[in-house]
Amino acid sequence: MTERPTLAVGLMSGTSLDGMDAALVRFSGPTRAELLGFVQLPYSKDYRSRLSAAITRGTTRELALLHDAIAEWAVEATAEVLAQAHVRASDLDLIAFHGQTIWHEPPIVTWQLGEPARLAEAFGVRVVSGFRGRDLAAGGQGAPLVPIADVLLFGSDHPRALLNLGGMANVTWVARRAVTEGAFAFDTGPGMAVIDDLARLIDPALPYDVDGRLGATGSVNEALLAELLADEYFTAVPPKSTGRERFGSDYAAALLRRAGPADAVATAVALTTASVAAAMSRWMPDTADLLVSGGGRHHPAVMAGLEARLGARVRVRRFDEVFFSGDAKEAVAFALLGYLTIHGQPGNLPSATGARGPRVLGVVTPA
Ligand SMILES: Nc1ncnc2c1ncn2[C@@H]1O[C@H](COP(=O)(O)OP(=O)(O)O)[C@@H](O)[C@H]1O
Ligand SMILES: [Mg+2]
Repeated sequence: MTERPTLAVGLMSGTSLDGMDAALVRFSGPTRAELLGFVQLPYSKDYRSRLSAAITRGTTRELALLHDAIAEWAVEATAEVLAQAHVRASDLDLIAFHGQTIWHEPPIVTWQLGEPARLAEAFGVRVVSGFRGRDLAAGGQGAPLVPIADVLLFGSDHPRALLNLGGMANVTWVARRAVTEGAFAFDTGPGMAVIDDLARLIDPALPYDVDGRLGATGSVNEALLAELLADEYFTAVPPKSTGRERFGSDYAAALLRRAGPADAVATAVALTTASVAAAMSRWMPDTADLLVSGGGRHHPAVMAGLEARLGARVRVRRFDEVFFSGDAKEAVAFALLGYLTIHGQPGNLPSATGARGPRVLGVVTPA
């Protein structure tokens, strides 16, 4: 691979539907990345409701209009991160655009909206998008795709687990930095999506359970928790991935009906932490080092629950303590995926997605 540094923007908008994240990254090879800038462009309340409604029951026209609107948010986020870092678009080598997942039903289909041509035209830079399709075509789940970054960028000289708490929660196990052998990953189940949906059902003015205030007033309904944990997703053997189709607004509404507001949030928090802890003890080698990234690490009860359930043997740290803001990790991972694609290198980890083999991911829209 080239030694000349490569400047890339990675754009990520996850299942939390909270906003568009943009990371500006300088790569000096696939294992050396430097974060030069990061912005989170929060979605307006209107746009988020539109997105959320379209995901569950959008008309063809609504989905088509979103295909354009998502690209517009991506253009804005890219312009902001470039301005923040005082970097010109003409110095960029690529933009990696995840798009917004509108439907995730592996192994049949996973579908991300967002027109890449809008970015190519706005900045005169090639755009890599459509990352998940090839892995799916190769028999994989198309997800999770962040694990290659966990291996190449965020591993250590000892075994390390990395947990990302976005809308869904996923965990990667890395034996040693830059060594793909033995590394694996999967979605453990819901991360913050159910908690978010509950918060919005309880108080439509809330974007999510800000600083864990709602959950703090309730207690865990243990009988209900045990029932939820019996869901076949949690017992299914990895590799596996999930989304809002299973753990989304309908799921949250049913939980709210059964537990009442405060207890429902506390129970959803316990569902996330208990399913992560159970998945780790069931399928991962004992690992003393866990780094937590994603918005869920801002939720005090989620972090406290994780520490309590993982026990004293695991040192739980925020990703930020070792690298950079844990909010930026996924956008950096997509910048890496774009970098790998333009260098003809595979981006999927078959032990994470279940694909038949490593594949070069994505579609390139020329500058
Ligand atoms: N201050 C906070 N208090 C509680 N939860 C928070 C806070 N900040 C962020 N979050 C949680 O993090 C989520 C966003 O996480 P993120 O990593 O962006 O997920 P995704 O990748 O799915 O977009 C929010 O929806 C919310 O659940
Ligand atoms: Mg987000």
